[in-house]
Amino acid sequence: MAQSDLSDAKKARKDEFYTQYSDIQREMNAYLEYDPKVFKDKTVLLPCDDPEWSNFTKFFAQNFENFELKKLISTSYAVESKLYKEGYQVTMFEESAPHYDSNKTRIKGKIFTLDHDTTGDGKIDVEDLQWNYLKGDGDFRSKEIKKLRDESDIIITNPPFSLFREFLAWIMEANKKFIIIGNMNAITYKEVFPLIKNNQMWTGIRFNQRVNGKNMTFYVPDNYNLSGTEVEVNNGKKMISVAGIGWYTNIDHGRRHQPLKLMTMADNLKFNKKLKSKESYDKYDNYDAIEVPFTECIPSDYEDVMGVPISFLNKYNPEQFEILGATQRGCHDNVPDTKKYNDYWEMKQNGERTGSSGGKTNENANLLGNDGKKNYFINKEDRIIQSAYQRLFIKHRR
Ligand SMILES: C[S@@+](CC[C@H](N)C(=O)[O-])C[C@H]1O[C@@H](n2cnc3c(N)ncnc32)[C@H](O)[C@@H]1O
Repeated sequence: MAQSDLSDAKKARKDEFYTQYSDIQREMNAYLEYDPKVFKDKTVLLPCDDPEWSNFTKFFAQNFENFELKKLISTSYAVESKLYKEGYQVTMFEESAPHYDSNKTRIKGKIFTLDHDTTGDGKIDVEDLQWNYLKGDGDFRSKEIKKLRDESDIIITNPPFSLFREFLAWIMEANKKFIIIGNMNAITYKEVFPLIKNNQMWTGIRFNQRVNGKNMTFYVPDNYNLSGTEVEVNNGKKMISVAGIGWYTNIDHGRRHQPLKLMTMADNLKFNKKLKSKESYDKYDNYDAIEVPFTECIPSDYEDVMGVPISFLNKYNPEQFEILGATQRGCHDNVPDTKKYNDYWEMKQNGERTGSSGGKTNENANLLGNDGKKNYFINKEDRIIQSAYQRLFIKHRR
């Protein structure tokens, strides 16, 4: 198989990671803790789902009355339109329905709705879900699903990883509330970063965190080829743990308003073990800011711009800090780079040189030319050193 086919196949499979009930429950509970009426009288849309067995649909249908929802809508994508089509089987649930259609089952999306008691048992729950085939394939970009988006209040899902940017833009153009799963790297996408900087979007509760020693873990299709250390079989279901994954939202939660407890710069330098043997508070060579290698080392008393790891976002409290930019190209208008380099040394945080050190990378590494591609640099004894990690630029709010 050609290299590009292989990576297409990999991408396709990544679009089929299914979320665990416990992850959905833990996340939604945090919004409910902050505002118990957060879902009251709301129409919740769960697009890019697979309502026959998705935990999103199950969770919201089971809690319909509890959350005082107005309406739940959940839609799925037709198997023939998916990048990953293997292993599809019609469920008993679909096949036994009077409106089952063997022509439509592979080419049409499905819609599940819940807004009233259909069974007559006096309550509204998962038993009252009604379903039908969509007119189209359920692509979130289609007119049909856009219409559902426009009539909903909150959009909640784990969208296909390969279409994250498009999916977020789709939500933002309709100005909707959302709670979605995405990759941590999305923070510095040029479409995403301005939203974070302007507090139009933030990280949810679980973001790039291990819980019980594990990264966020998803169900994958039964015929998924298991490899590597982060895959497992749980009750016969194949699962995969993925690093750097988390929730993004524009709905408020309590963690966002807890201030980070910090020490002064002097106390950090004296007592903070994490700072030893690191570039502690050095001024960058090419930005008017200091390097802070770990979030917990942010000095409480520094008034100017600081470069911090992107994992800071998980601790970000907009009343305590202002985000000014990021080292990624297109994200630092407010903290412009003051120099550009062609020749540099690149170092990891532990001080080791990376394989991708550029230019001549010799003892005489110096400033040349204007390629401007690189992140940030610290000038140490006239050797230019670049950290291999991206940085966010922040400042205390006083
Ligand atoms: C990452 S999975 C998550 C599924 C489910 N929301 C969950 O978390 O359990 C994304 C789903 O979106 C579907 N999908 C892919 N492209 C899509 C598109 N353009 N429009 C709608 N759904 C799509 C995939 O086939 C897959 O079922």
